[in-house]
Amino acid sequence: MRTLKRLLLTVIICSLLLLCSHLVKTQDVCETGSSDCSEPAAAEQSSKYSKPLPLVHLSVVACGDRLEESMIMIKSAVILSTAHVMVHIFADDDLRPVFQKQLETWPDEIRSHLSFKRYPISFPTSSAYKPDEWRKLFKPCASQRLFIPDILRDVDSVLYVDTDILFMRPIEDVWDHFKHFNSSQIAALSPEHESPNAGWYNRFARHPYYGKLGVNSGVMLMNLTRMRQVGWLDHIIPYYKEYKLKITWGDQDLINIFFHYFPDKLYIYNCDWNYRPDHCMYMSNCKQAESNGVSVLHGCRGVYHNEKQPVFKSIYEAFRDYKFGDDLSKTLLAPMLKSMSKHSSMPCGKIIQILVGIDLRDSQT
Ligand SMILES: *[C@@H]1O[C@H](CO)[C@@H](O)[C@H](O)[C@H]1NC(C)=O
Ligand SMILES: *[C@@H]1O[C@H](CO)[C@@H](O)[C@H](O)[C@H]1NC(C)=O
Repeated sequence: MRTLKRLLLTVIICSLLLLCSHLVKTQDVCETGSSDCSEPAAAEQSSKYSKPLPLVHLSVVACGDRLEESMIMIKSAVILSTAHVMVHIFADDDLRPVFQKQLETWPDEIRSHLSFKRYPISFPTSSAYKPDEWRKLFKPCASQRLFIPDILRDVDSVLYVDTDILFMRPIEDVWDHFKHFNSSQIAALSPEHESPNAGWYNRFARHPYYGKLGVNSGVMLMNLTRMRQVGWLDHIIPYYKEYKLKITWGDQDLINIFFHYFPDKLYIYNCDWNYRPDHCMYMSNCKQAESNGVSVLHGCRGVYHNEKQPVFKSIYEAFRDYKFGDDLSKTLLAPMLKSMSKHSSMPCGKIIQILVGIDLRDSQT
């Protein structure tokens, strides 16, 4: 009797598990008929796992000459990750087909845990707003991110990043910050500066901003469900109308204005989750990176492409030149370190050891 009971229980648990894995599998599968949608490899592969991979939604807006940068950002996200990465790519009409073409050439092994959907630069057609009015208000590409909660209405949360981001450790580690949100937090951002002497907002801004030194918007966890719940755009649009002549950094300034008025809704992560040249060019001022390594690198102001911060460029080029499937320590980390070491006398070169994040460092052994 007892064994039968146990057997029955086992059967019930198993069918529940099967049901769950099926649910997770069917979730987030592309709508059929959408030409901007690609997920065949993913659907095939997930049947091989008894337990589906955790799912991370990544989003980027790419226009003009930002194709290569965006592709290398996505590459850095997938090569270190064991999660399934679903990328929502907002791109202008010229770039959308190229993204599709290039991503389709990536090997099956990568494609098995990467899906992507492409979207035109657009504004929500929700009848509550007048899309035409919006189009006139904003520069389309720069402001696209602000509208993601209303465009990806079926998506609960995304990690939004600028195109000049590189993941130095698995992307799911960034995603895990969602678990630490309290019930009022709708987004996560890192401080714009660590010290008031170098701060931009505290010295120059002519509009309200978050906290003492403002926030940088390059790496933003967005709980879209909650952003919709708090009426994100109902606040952003009036802020834009009020401050448009006073803002310098576009959407980042509007985000700062929002969280100035709603500081309880923002989760702050440390500078190692959004590490920029400012953190090392004068002195090393991101303490958390000194102990944790850099988790997410942000090559703002074009440093991957100019000669101003060659150490940042070395990291970018190492990711660019890495070939899928090759050994990470030999063909990503070793060339990266070699190239960086040539610039060890530069300000950011003195901290090579912290620039190379934990996971890459581990793979060296
Ligand atoms: C986002 O917020 C909603 C509503 O509070 C919650 O159900 C959901 O789990 C949150 N998403 C993540 C990734 O934490
Ligand atoms: C969530 O955390 C923020 C920042 O620490 C805080 O201001 C807010 O009051 C917290 N909300 C709740 C419901 O605890």
